[in-house]
Amino acid sequence: MRPFFEGGVGNPNAQHSLGLEARSTLDGARAKVARLFAATPGGVIFTASATEANNLAVKGLAQRAAGRHIVTSAIEHISLIDSCRDLEKRGWSVTYVGVDADGRIDPEAVANAIRDETALVSVMAANNEIGTIQPVREIGRIARARGVPFHVDAVGRRRTRPAPRRRLPHRPAHALVERSLRPPGAGALWARASVKLAPLTVGGGRSAAIAPAPRTAGDRRDGRRGRPGAGRGRERSGAARRAA
Ligand SMILES: Cc1ncc(COP(=O)(O)O)c(C=O)c1O
Repeated sequence: MRPFFEGGVGNPNAQHSLGLEARSTLDGARAKVARLFAATPGGVIFTASATEANNLAVKGLAQRAAGRHIVTSAIEHISLIDSCRDLEKRGWSVTYVGVDADGRIDPEAVANAIRDETALVSVMAANNEIGTIQPVREIGRIARARGVPFHVDAVGRRRTRPAPRRRLPHRPAHALVERSLRPPGAGALWARASVKLAPLTVGGGRSAAIAPAPRTAGDRRDGRRGRPGAGRGRERSGAARRAA
């Protein structure tokens, strides 16, 4: 990331050399993130934080779903809880499944909470305050059997090597990249192609119109393109090559 923080970066949707270079670096990063989850690169959506990824997962999915009910746990991260509360204000209902004395979610309680109109089951992989590892595979299996999309907030799971496929939560609808592996200002959501997400912000039209990509140094806030100087362009080229 450092070369881009220091030297700027082109618009990855542009056809000029800086844009092509940015596109190639972005594609490389997408492939690396996808490997963490043993998943396809096309499903990776970059966000500015895990909070944004959680909001996109819950509210983005809710807005495209037919059912208006969500199942989650009472001890999720505040970004997930507040996303659910936001939906409750707009007429959705949410079941917050309780946990035992160790903070563990009982998969059976999730099974009992699922209704015909349930649009999403969302649980965290590991609790960020007490460290409890949740039985996400079992819960994922239950959600799948009931035909309900399943979301895992994987921020609390520290993983430094790609996840073997067998250890992934069963058919996750999407997952978040671990906090420990990312620089500040970056998060990611992985979504299966069949999962439809409404964008949280409009007007970007990037990242397959799901989440607008963060603004780049080549984009001006007023919508006009910046004028990267030729010299700076060459510097960025080298920086990007070093980062790749
Ligand atoms: C489990 C969990 N989910 C989501 C978040 C939000 O992460 P961010 O600070 O990137 O928004 C955190 C942050 O601590 C977390 O622990």
